[in-house]
Amino acid sequence: MSSSTPIADSITLQLRTLEAEHRMMKDTLAAMRSAGQDATRLHDLTAENERLRAENAALRRHAHYEDWFEKHFGVRVPTPNTWPFTTWTSDTPWGVKACYGLQDAEILFAEHLLEKLEADGVQGAVVEFGTYYGHWLQVLAGILENRGWRREMWGFDSFEGLPAPQQGLDPSVWHEGQYAAPFDEVMARLEVARRPWLRLVKGWFNATLMAEPATGIGPIAYARIDGDLYASCVDCLAFLTPRLVQGALLVFDDWQFDPRVGEPRAFEEWMAANPGWKFEYLGMNLWAHLYLRVSERP
Ligand SMILES: C[S@@+](CC[C@H](N)C(=O)[O-])C[C@H]1O[C@@H](n2cnc3c(N)ncnc32)[C@H](O)[C@@H]1O
Repeated sequence: MSSSTPIADSITLQLRTLEAEHRMMKDTLAAMRSAGQDATRLHDLTAENERLRAENAALRRHAHYEDWFEKHFGVRVPTPNTWPFTTWTSDTPWGVKACYGLQDAEILFAEHLLEKLEADGVQGAVVEFGTYYGHWLQVLAGILENRGWRREMWGFDSFEGLPAPQQGLDPSVWHEGQYAAPFDEVMARLEVARRPWLRLVKGWFNATLMAEPATGIGPIAYARIDGDLYASCVDCLAFLTPRLVQGALLVFDDWQFDPRVGEPRAFEEWMAANPGWKFEYLGMNLWAHLYLRVSERP
């Protein structure tokens, strides 16, 4: 990622100025205090300056991310840095409803995208990497069933939770073993026994995706990468390379607004190693779910 763009450079300049001011104010504050003078006003200014500095640093990170995103997807999308505009906070029942209302909208969006796959005759399986209790698999399976669309569906998971995150490659929000789910219970919830077209595969991606039955999977038309971590995403993208068809949907469930970590990092490395792929940006929702369509592939 280039560290120099006109927007990022001008923000860096502002940041340096603020930093210099901040150092000067801190020195003055210390001198006034040691001389027994009232330094309240200067103290307030220093606090304000500190806040501006943090805001400015975030703006700079966003500008870098937005440049990076535009380079890959041809559109400039502002980095989300706020919850949807509502005075209900997420710790109130109405705030929770507002968030889940957006999830309902996303489910309709997923249905619309599947409908378009059908209309365009894009053949291939629906695959999710990282199923946990099967929420999204159930959503997608329900849509296929209700609409009478016949596609193979696959879900891959360790069912032991996440592998260990790697410092510097993953954001610090996750931990090893998080999201463990009992395999048999998930099989029952998803009613796999009565859905022969839906299969769950238990094990670590770097083993299961290299062996049968995964290696027997043909074209893929809808892939959800929901393994959260950088290394998990690397394994999924390698698996998808020969299988993801033209027009297919690729969904990243844990998109980070920082190309140095997690799924964007894995994606950037994969793009560099696999020239000739192009993606159309379809949308991004509150839950950091990024929707792309394969517009060109080698
Ligand atoms: C956030 S959860 C998935 C949530 C799920 N898609 C849903 O709809 O609720 C992430 C899942 O990825 C799985 N996972 C992450 N990395 C993995 C890996 N390398 N191999 C196998 N499973 C992995 C974890 O076990 C966990 O269940």
